[in-house]
Amino acid sequence: MARILLALVAALALVAGAAQAQRVNLLCSPDLAWCEALGPAFTEATGIPLDFIRVSSQDALARIRAEAANPVFDVWFGGTGDPHLIAMREGIAEMYIPTVWDELIPELKSVINEEYIPLYAGAIGFVVNEEALGGAPLPRTWRDLTDPAYRGLIAMPDPTSSGTAYTTLATLIQIFGEDEAFELLEDIHLNIAQYTSSGAAPGQLAGRGEVAIAVQFMHDGVKFAAQGFPLTTYAPEEGVGYEIGGITLIANAPNRDAAIEFIEWALTPEAQAIAGQQGESYQIQSNMNTEQHPLAPDFDEINLIEYDFDRWGDPEVRDRILTRWLNEIFPIPR
Ligand code: F6P
Repeated sequence: MARILLALVAALALVAGAAQAQRVNLLCSPDLAWCEALGPAFTEATGIPLDFIRVSSQDALARIRAEAANPVFDVWFGGTGDPHLIAMREGIAEMYIPTVWDELIPELKSVINEEYIPLYAGAIGFVVNEEALGGAPLPRTWRDLTDPAYRGLIAMPDPTSSGTAYTTLATLIQIFGEDEAFELLEDIHLNIAQYTSSGAAPGQLAGRGEVAIAVQFMHDGVKFAAQGFPLTTYAPEEGVGYEIGGITLIANAPNRDAAIEFIEWALTPEAQAIAGQQGESYQIQSNMNTEQHPLAPDFDEINLIEYDFDRWGDPEVRDRILTRWLNEIFPIPR
């Protein structure tokens, strides 16, 4: 009897273990609607349940760093690529080559030196509510944002939580050099009404007329305009940086097999099309065979800078620039 009981307990433990392995815990950094749509579609395709939380890119990196000894999440889906690269270089994420690797747009892989898996791409820009400008001219350049005419009229995300804002900082430093970029950031700071925690939120503020100018990814501005907000989206004249959003396997993921199944699925054209179907996410999708949404940006028509992914994905560069911003810009009264 005791033996039978033992065997039963062992069998139950095995079943429980297998069931546990069959779920995905996702850190999800793009728009909430896209994150919400992933689980049901993935479960329908594979039978594997999925839980997620939406976390901005820098916060996601902080979370993966903090949990590195005992990871809670299996996959990090989306968010700007720099922190994905940092996670990879710190060994808290694992490079996995998906079977669709050769279907992924070659330029997206080569500019990041194939150090993580590209999921999508998008470019930074201005998202402007002309009515809310109150007669001030449309800003045309990065330097224009320092004009006192825009006092209290600009919103941008906080670079310590948002990958969008980190990409913006990196863009300014690459265009103007570090010291001049920090001088510009100081003057822009005087015009900032609000630093938001997530990258897309400034466009909502501009859409409602609470500010006039949002600095964020252009695809987020296009999304709010498509939803009916009176917003114009464009790139400033000096050029703009861009993101190659990533999809990353967390090192020592508790559900590694299910995580890999999710990554494989998420890179298929069918799964990537889910982004645009939510009316929320118009990035360029990384699989060459994905039908790009008509509202996705055309990189051939945008003045992109030569974004140095190697440098901005360096953990020391990141930590030093964010510390400098926190010490020198953020505390200035405005
Ligand atoms: O809203 C979508 C998006 O702009 C993505 O393209 C980008 O990777 C992500 O948000 C960045 O969000 P955050 O700035 O909050 O990290």
